[in-house]
Amino acid sequence: MKKVILGVTGGIAAYKAVELARHFVRGGAEVQVVMTPAATEFVAPLTFQTLTNRPAYVEMYTERTGDKIRHIELLEDADVMVVAPATANTIGKMACGFADNLLTTLYLAASCPVIVIPSMNVNMYQHPSVCENLEKLIGHGCLVMDPDAGELACGVYGSGRMPEPSDIYNFTRAALMVKDYQDLNVLVTAGPTREPLDPVRFLSNPSTGLMGYALARALSERGAKVTLVSGPAVHRVPAGVKKIDVTTADEMYSVVLDHYEESRLVIKAAAVSDFKPSTSAQHKTKKGDAAHSIKLVPNPDILLELGKQKGNRILVGFAAETENIIGNAHDKLLQKNLDLIVVNNLKEPGAGFAAPTNRVSIIDRSGTVEELPLLEKELLAHHILDRVVKLL
Ligand code: CTP
Repeated sequence: MKKVILGVTGGIAAYKAVELARHFVRGGAEVQVVMTPAATEFVAPLTFQTLTNRPAYVEMYTERTGDKIRHIELLEDADVMVVAPATANTIGKMACGFADNLLTTLYLAASCPVIVIPSMNVNMYQHPSVCENLEKLIGHGCLVMDPDAGELACGVYGSGRMPEPSDIYNFTRAALMVKDYQDLNVLVTAGPTREPLDPVRFLSNPSTGLMGYALARALSERGAKVTLVSGPAVHRVPAGVKKIDVTTADEMYSVVLDHYEESRLVIKAAAVSDFKPSTSAQHKTKKGDAAHSIKLVPNPDILLELGKQKGNRILVGFAAETENIIGNAHDKLLQKNLDLIVVNNLKEPGAGFAAPTNRVSIIDRSGTVEELPLLEKELLAHHILDRVVKLL
């Protein structure tokens, strides 16, 4: 998304559009803000100008030249127009083809995708006129994001609240994404597993699940039907993703195998504990009673099992290594019958567990290695999918 036209109308949620503009800027987009005159009652154009580094336009005609065309040119090369918040008034005008201010005029002239974020009082949102107008906009090709439910600015509870700026940003990104995984059933595993010693103690590892969740989000944005089997992790479930929580490797094993039949692609990003305590106490073990050594028994190797029953599925594994990185990872790929393995060197700065970034190599069956630079995990997920899609 290189250029975004952000249309801001006169609702109390206009202040949230400031944060939305920042998300787009942070995502690398050029953001051109266009405000209705009413929106300027809530937020000053200067606020947007400062954040986006370009003037926020309100007036249709520039005083100096009276040149209307110049403003239509704002749409040039625009990838998307996002109207957030969209009031009932502006939605009505857009639906009926009014062009009485710069924003509504640009809407009529826009050939890029248009996303509308309704935001208003619940009764207004449910009024038949507003419903009809939103239906009309959908019929005209706009994408409408459902508002959140909750406490509204007017003090009542209900649907009509503008969603969080980060959700609108993700919705927009997803809407523009190429749907190269459309309707593909994909199983992703993420996070650590925990192997209990007693009800309050466990063996685990430092995985936070960030990579697996980023993959699930990226897949969903690209049209896949994603089931995410997650060990303990605190991330929000990406929109459209079905999440199943598990704790132990044994639980992950049984959930993954239950969903294997219908999966066309499996990406195993989870950091599964290889071992578990041979016994787990039912009650908290008291200090005085604790054994000084713990007997461990192996957990099932889930990916190894998937590899044995692979059929025509695509299997992608992860490997965390600290030495002989490529050699060890390629051995794992062959041993577990995978199509690709994504390997990270745990000793490199910025790579591995819990970091927001990662630096990986992707290895295929023939041993060909693709080295990727240090990337945010969100972005890395898309790079991995760009490689995987070639196998489908
Ligand atoms: N994996 C799995 N089940 C296990 C262990 C690992 O499914 N019990 C999967 C991981 O999800 C990952 C891949 O196997 O996709 C490689 O995991 P890794 O921990 O790097 O390797 P291991 O097979 O456990 O081998 P080792 O610990 O000896 O390096």
